[in-house]
Amino acid sequence: MPVTVAATVVELRSLIGGRRVALVPTMGALHDGHLALAARAVELVSQGVVDVVAASIFVNPLQFGPNEDLEKYPRTFDEDVAKLDAAGIDFVFAPTVEEMYPNGPLETKVTAGTVGSMFEGRSRPGHFDGVLTVVNKLLNIAGASAVLFGQKDAQQAFLVQRMVRDLSMPVRVEIVETVREESGLALSSRNRFLDAKEHRAARVLSTALEAAASSADRGIDAVIAAAQSVLMGENLVELDYLAVVNPATFLPVDDDYRGPARVLIAARVGSTRLIDNERIRL
Ligand code: PAF
Repeated sequence: MPVTVAATVVELRSLIGGRRVALVPTMGALHDGHLALAARAVELVSQGVVDVVAASIFVNPLQFGPNEDLEKYPRTFDEDVAKLDAAGIDFVFAPTVEEMYPNGPLETKVTAGTVGSMFEGRSRPGHFDGVLTVVNKLLNIAGASAVLFGQKDAQQAFLVQRMVRDLSMPVRVEIVETVREESGLALSSRNRFLDAKEHRAARVLSTALEAAASSADRGIDAVIAAAQSVLMGENLVELDYLAVVNPATFLPVDDDYRGPARVLIAARVGSTRLIDNERIRL
């Protein structure tokens, strides 16, 4: 059956009709990273975990700051729907801003706490409150019993998992591995803003993460130094932050920490801000 597009909450709910649904929340501008989420969601159907799959396409104003790229955020709706159709998704939920926020700015919000104001949240104040609020709302709209996110947005994935746990939401959260170009560059909707030179330079993010991972047995200082020295070799890339966090808390690890960790990188390449991360063991 071809994918059916619902623009309203009422339409989506009547299409789902009380069946168990996996939701793939997106802001559109879909690439193979999103399609990996869709493929995993479709697999959940074949495994009998859910009955149907819905993807949402909604560029959520709540998660953009006043000087961010809300207006500029790429919108490729027809292509997105065709890709979701080919991926075997049942329903696309594509609401307007008025449908999602009919009374204007919300008075009730989910707050992302301390971790929400670190890393991405430091550069983008209020971003994660906006993300968690819209994810919560989308899950309620769809009545979803499963939801899928990409590992590329590691902080978002952590915060959604924590929200679901903290608020006892009856939702299974699946995090799907980052999809990369052959060069190692993590797929992102924002990659399309890079010109050819910037695109080449942007590979340095994943190269720095690889260098960090291969220094992990020499401790955290070696990890940071290895990543920094790779990044310094590329003058088109301006580092925003480089951090090593404990995956259980998403807080920076101490010098004597041993165990699983995650290296986070955010950098500006020209005027485009990119993020990436990699799992390591210290
Ligand atoms: O990762 C994204 O594209 C967005 O943050 C999400 C989860 C769709 C919420 O708007």
